[in-house]
Amino acid sequence: MKALVLAGGKGTRLRPITHTSAKQLIPVANKPILFYGLEALRDVGISDVGIIVGDTAEEIREAVGDGSAWNLNVTYIRQAEPLGLAHTVIVARDFLGDDDFVMYLGDNLLLESLRPFVEEFQRHRPNAQILLTEVPEPERFGVAVLEGDRVVRLVEKPREHISDLALVGVYLFDRTVHEAVNAVEPSWRGELEITDSIQQLIDRGRTVRAGQVTGWWKDTGKLEDMLEANRLTLSELETRI
Ligand code: TTP
Repeated sequence: MKALVLAGGKGTRLRPITHTSAKQLIPVANKPILFYGLEALRDVGISDVGIIVGDTAEEIREAVGDGSAWNLNVTYIRQAEPLGLAHTVIVARDFLGDDDFVMYLGDNLLLESLRPFVEEFQRHRPNAQILLTEVPEPERFGVAVLEGDRVVRLVEKPREHISDLALVGVYLFDRTVHEAVNAVEPSWRGELEITDSIQQLIDRGRTVRAGQVTGWWKDTGKLEDMLEANRLTLSELETRI
């Protein structure tokens, strides 16, 4: 299993901090957000990691290097423009080949281990597996409607309320995702959405399963989220006097 870590994008919502630096490198409790993700991937035994980079490629490369600090083998994949999460899968096609992979949004912070999630994927072999969490403002996220463990519908930033279960920025895919990402059209915000791609899988009769996170999760997209992420991370640290 490989990993695709997304560290491109523009980070407009975090301006002004991201005017001068990549949002994935903003420190939380003194460590860049991106490093938490790399550690989580290493901890489930993944070694081949492709990192999607855009305008801030140099900075990301400088911080992560060849990945050996985490025992990872890192390949940088250039995305000329941030055309959407599904677009990153298209750009990474050669790197991914036909392997299963974890897609990990480089600005997400997740407390718990990815292990149960990966093991469930390996046990049930769905075509895709997503991770969900209940949120108070579902209109800010991609959300899912379930029947048992199966996902029946996905909507990106819904304008009407259909579910409180938001997609956490970690996804597992097998190779069927490639036909799905190639079939989607740009959304109303002009991006190739991963939610539309997963909906394509469902419409084609593929299996999409969902798990729920038990610990906390933060999409560090907004300033308040960054502060909250710092607070939560610090509260998990062991103190010693
Ligand atoms: P988003 O938060 O969806 O987008 P963004 O980084 O462009 O932020 P903003 O809306 O504030 O302008 O991105 C989630 C992660 O995926 C983030 O780490 C950036 C990365 N990403 C890419 O690498 N390529 C892309 O095309 C997009 C849309 C995001």
